[in-house]
Amino acid sequence: MSDAHDREIAMMFDRIAARYDFLNRVLSFGTDIGWRRRALARADIRSGMTVLDVGAGTGDLSFAAASRGAHVVAIDLSAGMLAVLASRATEAQRERIQPTVGNAERLPLPDASVDRIITGFTVRNVGDLGTALAEFRRALRPGGRAVVLELSHPPNTAFALLYSLYFDRIAPAVAALLGGDREAYRYLPRSLRPFPSADRLAAMLRDAGFRNVSYERLTLGIAAIHVAEV
Ligand SMILES: C[S@@+](CC[C@H](N)C(=O)[O-])C[C@H]1O[C@@H](n2cnc3c(N)ncnc32)[C@H](O)[C@@H]1O
Repeated sequence: MSDAHDREIAMMFDRIAARYDFLNRVLSFGTDIGWRRRALARADIRSGMTVLDVGAGTGDLSFAAASRGAHVVAIDLSAGMLAVLASRATEAQRERIQPTVGNAERLPLPDASVDRIITGFTVRNVGDLGTALAEFRRALRPGGRAVVLELSHPPNTAFALLYSLYFDRIAPAVAALLGGDREAYRYLPRSLRPFPSADRLAAMLRDAGFRNVSYERLTLGIAAIHVAEV
């Protein structure tokens, strides 16, 4: 998509970077921690691997990958989010993680140069998702794997309504009450609405050239983990 879209996203995450972790934990009731753990298990990261964390943000997935002995390229559009990542990192993590300002749609990496791609709560923000998925495919080595953790659309209609009430109304108000940026948390439901269903995202991964594409829904389908291989 346009550079204007990317600038807007980067500025929004720059604005909320300092309070991102705190608000995330509160608004997700801590469920995001278990979801990330599950995604990491699916990534099967081993010592010596090169791992790309796309939309690394404040670093939770990057830190976990580094603790498994991987070298991590932590890419994000927002320098502010990466600054928080750098400030949270221990000396040992700093040696293994390379924070890099960059765009998922134009990965600053050679073809077939990484063993794993992990990405958490990022792809729904990307301007052109098809382009980003093709970039993931290009950057992965043969035998490589992409694990995409993202919010999704609950399949049960009644639950989906309840969930959208929380997401559209309650979460932005709570974020504002807790000193967050109400506008940024209004953006949250806006970013999810046009995002493809879990089935459609799986099809897009196949279209991008991945094989063995599978997904699992988390917490009644609020989120999903897609796994795709090269
Ligand atoms: C909701 S945060 C998630 C951060 C982290 N992965 C986590 O699990 O908490 C989304 C991150 O994706 C980044 N982002 C959004 N669009 C991007 C793009 N096109 N390329 C790279 N990073 C992007 C944002 O700047 C933000 O830091």
